[in-house]
Amino acid sequence: MTEPDLPIIDRTRLGAEAVTVPEFSVAPMMELTDRHFRFLMRLISRKTRLYTEMLTANAVIHGDRERLLGYDPVEHPLALQLGGNDPALLAEAAGIGEQFGYDEINLNVGCPSDRVKSGRFGAALMAEPELVGRCVQSMQQAVAVPVTVKCRIGIDRDESIETLNAFVNTVSDYGCQHFAVHARKAWLDGLSPKENRTIPPLRYDTVYQLKAARPDLTIVINGGIDSWSDIDTHLAQTDGVMIGREAYYNPVFMSRVDSYLDGSPWVEPDLFSIARQYGEYMQRQREEGINLSGMSRHLIALFQQVPGARAWRRHLSSGHRDTNSAITLVEDALAFLSPQTNTG
Ligand SMILES: Cc1cc2nc3c(=O)[nH]c(=O)nc-3n(C[C@H](O)[C@H](O)[C@H](O)COP(=O)(O)O)c2cc1C
Repeated sequence: MTEPDLPIIDRTRLGAEAVTVPEFSVAPMMELTDRHFRFLMRLISRKTRLYTEMLTANAVIHGDRERLLGYDPVEHPLALQLGGNDPALLAEAAGIGEQFGYDEINLNVGCPSDRVKSGRFGAALMAEPELVGRCVQSMQQAVAVPVTVKCRIGIDRDESIETLNAFVNTVSDYGCQHFAVHARKAWLDGLSPKENRTIPPLRYDTVYQLKAARPDLTIVINGGIDSWSDIDTHLAQTDGVMIGREAYYNPVFMSRVDSYLDGSPWVEPDLFSIARQYGEYMQRQREEGINLSGMSRHLIALFQQVPGARAWRRHLSSGHRDTNSAITLVEDALAFLSPQTNTG
């Protein structure tokens, strides 16, 4: 992989209240961004902001908090994403999140699953900006850390750009300063959640126009970002990029973030060392009774398109059945790769 020309960031484009450097984050993803994946991500980038999977306010209040909310301190900066639509419950859950030390509490206004629709939260809340505003306000009154919103550019087939701006204007009137916007609509009338992440077209311009209309707000763009030249374009128009699937299915992609932010030369990551450090982490977790396959699955995408990568993946997918040792599992899987493939 060759190093791209890194651009000079024009900070004058960022709003007065905006973050002083562009923000990079890994998007919240159910089943993917659990604490183990987040630990792995920290071995790749120190500065990327990380999000939990969405947790409902009720789960946080009534569930096994240590299991749901526990994390390793190395995961900071770390945001807890909540789902819900009841201002009082969300405030209580936000307070619990703050006590656990999360740096930000984020409200999910973008998830389109049936479960979420029937509960009238997630993307369905785009139609209820006043309610979202009251949720945000109530959460903000409960915590000192920032309360942020992750939303779509709209729902259903309404093509008007004004809908997004009206939503953001209302929610910001209640005090929200930071929006991560998935640049596609959620069609709540028939698409599955997976289809809703691919079929509605990406409309980056709508997010750029939102930022132009509201330069005072921090606007982070999300959706389909998988190249560093696209990131340059997005950062010229918005305050940050949130990366989901590319970060999970090609985690090395995120290895450029820290050098981009520091303006320092990018150093090719030592993937063998990252794999071994994650192996040691898994071993420690294993000794606490955590299931090995639930952690080792996150390593699968570390090596891509290099000789032995297929065998690496195969061994990580099945090798946990033959050993209880995470160290052995990783070493045996690494043995399929030649040291020359140790590149990002
Ligand atoms: C498996 C999966 C689970 C997701 N779970 C959540 C979630 O819990 N909360 C949320 O706000 N978005 C969720 N999303 C949406 C992502 O945060 C992101 O908005 C979307 O994938 C678009 O970004 P990307 O193209 O970079 O992946 C999920 C996406 C995927 C692929």
